[in-house]
Amino acid sequence: MRIDLVTIFPQYFTALDLSLIGRAGQSGLLDLRVHDLRGWTTDRHHSVDDAPYGGGAGMVMRPDVWGRALDEVLAQDPRVDEASTLGARRVLAIPTPSGSPLTQAMAEDLAGADHLVVACGRYEGIDQRVADYYRDAGREVVEYSIGDYVLNGGEAAALVLVEAVTRLLDGFMGNPESLVEESHSAGILEYPAYTRPRSWRGLEVPEVLLGGDHGAIRRWRQERAIDRTVERRPDLVEALPARLLDGAAREHLASRGYAAAETGARPLAIRPARPDEAPRIAALARRTFPLACPDSLPAEAIEDFCRTELSDESFDQMLADPAAHRILVAQVDADLVGYTLTVLSGPRGLPDGLVGGRIAPGAAYLSKCYVDEAWHGSGIAGALLEEAVVDVERTGAASQIVLGTNEANTRAQRFYRRHGFSRAGRRVFVVGGVENRDVVLVRKLTTAVPR
Ligand code: ADE
Repeated sequence: MRIDLVTIFPQYFTALDLSLIGRAGQSGLLDLRVHDLRGWTTDRHHSVDDAPYGGGAGMVMRPDVWGRALDEVLAQDPRVDEASTLGARRVLAIPTPSGSPLTQAMAEDLAGADHLVVACGRYEGIDQRVADYYRDAGREVVEYSIGDYVLNGGEAAALVLVEAVTRLLDGFMGNPESLVEESHSAGILEYPAYTRPRSWRGLEVPEVLLGGDHGAIRRWRQERAIDRTVERRPDLVEALPARLLDGAAREHLASRGYAAAETGARPLAIRPARPDEAPRIAALARRTFPLACPDSLPAEAIEDFCRTELSDESFDQMLADPAAHRILVAQVDADLVGYTLTVLSGPRGLPDGLVGGRIAPGAAYLSKCYVDEAWHGSGIAGALLEEAVVDVERTGAASQIVLGTNEANTRAQRFYRRHGFSRAGRRVFVVGGVENRDVVLVRKLTTAVPR
């Protein structure tokens, strides 16, 4: 790649002789040249600027000087090989605080160009006709900004562009692997890095990185990257398409308050249900219950169950008794899209079929964990389930949480197993008078103090 930098401060770019960029120049990967704009002035004072038309502070760089400079530099041959210059891609890049934000995607795109000419303005910038002229003439012109702050000139922004682009050139990086996982290329920030010494000023390297469990390390890093992005760059999270995240990442993101969606993650609240929400939760319950029923179950049985067990009144009653019925909801925008219902076994004890074996009599019963179909795969269900577990743990009312799920619903069983549940038996679960076979699963609670 050839890069030409045009500036009134050529010395500014001596920094590019250092380090990798200098070496890339020596190896022939990069042909970098710096030009003094004043070389194209024609007056005695070598002036490059003048007062702005329309008045205002500062000086504007003159288009005639820039025009002469850029005509000449843009006409230079970016390649040694004559035959291939025909289709060469040349880009005129103009750093300006009013340009489009420079992104990794833009750097990746520009790394594919053959010739980059960077016009560094000073003062109040370059007369707008310069960019307009070359664009009208069919040139590729990029006006870019390196951030929402104002520098004295474009030189620092030109250095930034050169560094961002050249490190992406084939053969530039000693270890191209490090380009793969880094910040921004995946739309999320990079996880924190640690090296020796293991203990430094009382601060330890996170334990998980010291063991050889590569799966655990990968998961930990993914979670920390998500945490950072949520905290520091919610704008990136809200632009992140779900397809870039695996199931575990989506669940972690949901636990941090964002529901993964194809158009970008959406703010998500997982919270206790309010007493006045019974009709909305009942409607959600009636929408979602059929999703987990086996195909063999007659529609009338499902309808009967929804009418009797999932009525507005039954949710009204449960919400009026939070000591026994814990209901959490997942809310995206104004919509309730998921809920859990956990029953703390009071004097009535657990429902039929759940008692005995490995199950403690005082176990909490996770009766429902449902998410609207449109949000399946978003991570909401996992985050809701974990919140429900924490909620029961906080009450200190139980040492276990137990649930039943249809024997045919292997997707649900895998989901619960991933969340620390293991099989404790079977039960018969009656839906609208029809008997269904359930698998019973149990998970130990950690902070519980049995009542
Ligand atoms: N010139 C002055 N400020 C700049 C910025 N933030 N980005 C690019 N070029 C600039």
